[in-house]
Amino acid sequence: MTSEKDFIFSPIPLTTKQGSFEWSAPSNIALVKYWGKKENQIPANPSISFTLNNCKTITKLDFIQKANHDTFSFDLLFEGNPKEDFRPKIQKFLERIAIYCPYLKNYHLKIDTKNTFPHSSGIASSASGMAALSMNIMSLEKELNPAVTDEFFYQKASFLARLGSGSACRSVKGTVVVWGNHNEFEGSSDLFGVPFTDEIHPIFNNYQDTILLVDKGEKQVSSTVGHDLMHNHPFAEQRFLQAHHNLSAIKTVLGNGDVNRFIEIVESEALTLHAMMMTSMPYFILMKPNTLEIINKIWKFRKETNIPVCFTLDAGANVHILYPENVIVETLQFIKDELLGYCQNGQYLCDAIGFGSQKL
Ligand code: DP6
Repeated sequence: MTSEKDFIFSPIPLTTKQGSFEWSAPSNIALVKYWGKKENQIPANPSISFTLNNCKTITKLDFIQKANHDTFSFDLLFEGNPKEDFRPKIQKFLERIAIYCPYLKNYHLKIDTKNTFPHSSGIASSASGMAALSMNIMSLEKELNPAVTDEFFYQKASFLARLGSGSACRSVKGTVVVWGNHNEFEGSSDLFGVPFTDEIHPIFNNYQDTILLVDKGEKQVSSTVGHDLMHNHPFAEQRFLQAHHNLSAIKTVLGNGDVNRFIEIVESEALTLHAMMMTSMPYFILMKPNTLEIINKIWKFRKETNIPVCFTLDAGANVHILYPENVIVETLQFIKDELLGYCQNGQYLCDAIGFGSQKL
């Protein structure tokens, strides 16, 4: 069993004076949702996600040794330009990981980041962003300590990403990733995400995710606040138990390719996530009227055609439409004909299952 202590960097002379790395990390879409957390970003229940392929953050880290080792020093750029509003989040992240990566205070960092998806599209970039930054930090750590193994490299990268944003720990490595202790998933951990290594039924190969951008506005309630409202939530315990059951169920489905059961679990998870928001105190609703219009159209289309498309939702109004690659033509036609009218400026993103972060 790995513990937090295993990720503390042991002091060694820092021979690297300066350098630079660049990594991309993808977004991910949860099938069984993480909603509710304990201290230090420990999830209240396990979750599982598909890693995406096209929605990515690309981050370049330049580092150069400095004299003062007491504080963090960094420049933060977004698409090459200084981005002051992102600074507090990065500052907080660096402080959180300081005990695990004390060497970061020995360097001035330049973090230059960009996304492959449109800025302020309502697609959260925190998962891909925190994952991409964590990969760069681990590249620096490996430079300082070449003894770092591949396994440790990815586990610690996911561990660090988790401290930045919980779901980010599922954007590091693997096409299907499990995060959170679950007795039926060997090696699963509350501390980091692990690739799901069982054989996956070919129906899920290149599974598609078309993301409909329903509302690009700022959310009224952040995920962090939403997670917090699961404390003293009247249905919390039952929900956490349900997530465990759904994880077991989806494990079976990923093996046997039962897409109807897949749809049932995934849509129920999405609606349960939003039901938790609606039954929090204070309560809130992140879906928009068009979110519901889209859901109803998907149900109608599925009933009429038997094409196994389903939806899932994140903590927002946008809809992710999941379907097998072999129905791509009919499904995209349906989306274009019937759903784009519900999207802000007709915007949508085509994505599919990917494999994780990549060194550039
Ligand atoms: C609804 O990972 O964004 O997308 O840990 O506070 O950064 P923080 O929250 P975040 O929560 C997102 C939760 C979700 C479901 C999921 O991805 O599992």
